[in-house]
Amino acid sequence: MTERHIILGVTGGIAVYKAADLCSRLVSAGFQVRVVMTPSAVKLISPKIFLTLSNHDVLTDLFTEHEAKPEHVHLATWGDALVVAPCTANFIGKYASGIADEPLSTTALTFWGPVLLAPAMNDNMWASPILQENLAKVVRVLGARTVGPETGHLACGTTGKGRMSEPADILAAVQAMFA
Ligand SMILES: Cc1cc2nc3c(=O)[nH]c(=O)nc-3n(C[C@H](O)[C@H](O)[C@H](O)COP(=O)(O)O)c2cc1C
Repeated sequence: MTERHIILGVTGGIAVYKAADLCSRLVSAGFQVRVVMTPSAVKLISPKIFLTLSNHDVLTDLFTEHEAKPEHVHLATWGDALVVAPCTANFIGKYASGIADEPLSTTALTFWGPVLLAPAMNDNMWASPILQENLAKVVRVLGARTVGPETGHLACGTTGKGRMSEPADILAAVQAMFA
């Protein structure tokens, strides 16, 4: 079987620490992984972690590309699937609206293959009717799939629905997309 190419989108949610584990698991499972980070994600975790784990450059800036072809266009052609983990409420809103104002949202709008979102957020954000409408739109219009979120302890100190699925479960969902 040819090696599958995963674009791993990392957004600015507190569950970014689990994205490093997911990246490692994807690579160990035999996927080629290219990571794209939002500016908020870069404020929470170093791209160097993903550079090391994926063994590829990490896209963090739309405007520092060295190649003639914009990197987000190259990546969108390279990828067999886009996985966004953690996936913020903000990203879902932008994806649902066609906004492309940083590397990940621009890559996502350019990419037409299978998309898996792993939402992770505060339980009130998750329960927001606007968030739910945006998510329903990306599922209905773009065919995006979701994994999680789970109910449990949240970083904000409460218990509720909004916890990102565990990396092992996200990996299983990615593998199921190709089964
Ligand atoms: C420490 C910290 C943790 C955050 N965690 C989350 C989160 O888990 N989910 C979420 O939707 N937003 C979270 N936010 C808010 C996002 O970072 C904010 O909405 C940002 O604009 C998201 O940008 P992005 O979607 O481009 O990454 C958090 C913010 C901070 C400062």
